[in-house]
Amino acid sequence: MSHWFIAGASRGIGLELARQLALRGARVTASVRSENGRAALQEALAPLGDRGQILIFDTRDAAQIHAAAAEVSEPIDALVANAGAYGPQRQSTLDMDFDGVLDLVNINTLGPLRVVQAFLPLLRQGERPRIAVMSSVLGSMALEGTFNVGYRLSKAGLNKIVQCLADDLKPEGVAVISMHPGWVRTDMGGPDAPVGVEESAAGIIGVVERLTLADTRRFVDYKGAEIDW
Ligand SMILES: NC(=O)c1ccc[n+]([C@@H]2O[C@H](COP(=O)([O-])OP(=O)(O)OC[C@H]3O[C@@H](n4cnc5c(N)ncnc54)[C@H](OP(=O)(O)O)[C@@H]3O)[C@@H](O)[C@H]2O)c1
Repeated sequence: MSHWFIAGASRGIGLELARQLALRGARVTASVRSENGRAALQEALAPLGDRGQILIFDTRDAAQIHAAAAEVSEPIDALVANAGAYGPQRQSTLDMDFDGVLDLVNINTLGPLRVVQAFLPLLRQGERPRIAVMSSVLGSMALEGTFNVGYRLSKAGLNKIVQCLADDLKPEGVAVISMHPGWVRTDMGGPDAPVGVEESAAGIIGVVERLTLADTRRFVDYKGAEIDW
């Protein structure tokens, strides 16, 4: 069974990914930001016994991430960089909380790259190594409208990082994709979202399981459908 690493698994999509993978018997390592987020994940990983490992780091803190990666001793086959935030109230072009949006870029745009860099040595030892970065259709440059500019620019920047990372890692045989999980009923997606967290997570797992180097540098949703960058 593959060894998966899920970053950002205290709640929402990340927690559900960990839960479903544990039920399938995959070896799962997953991270939370602080001790507060540990309990739900611990319960999700319970079926795995000592084959489930919990790490603690904030994706803004490279030293914390590297220290956590050093605690992992087995190669990783699939990494899902899922942790993300929605950002401050004021994030339109005409009224922006600049400090809040800078923090959001730190989390959503640079955070996933920090995680990938720290765990890359373990991925390089993995079988058919794959990276899925949780972006959003809201990061698509093709999408019109002026809402949620901060969140959208953070994910648009993330998409550019994914494209470059995919090109940089292709010669090493590591596949990298950007994913949209759907509009999902989580704390972030809200109660009106049309997709349940179980459906989204099951779809994401399927896409990542099927991922090969032939698919690298793609932007797809949880059903595997292509999204315009
Ligand atoms: N839900 C949707 O409709 C939707 C749509 C498109 C894309 N997405 C993307 O999908 C991913 C998961 O979304 P979700 O709906 O599951 O969100 P969520 O319910 O708000 O959960 C976000 C997760 O990210 C973690 N996180 C946030 N900031 C972090 C940081 N600085 N360091 C470490 N962990 C951090 C949170 O940890 P704490 O519990 O400690 O805060 C939590 O585990 C995000 O990248 C999001 O942008 C979601």
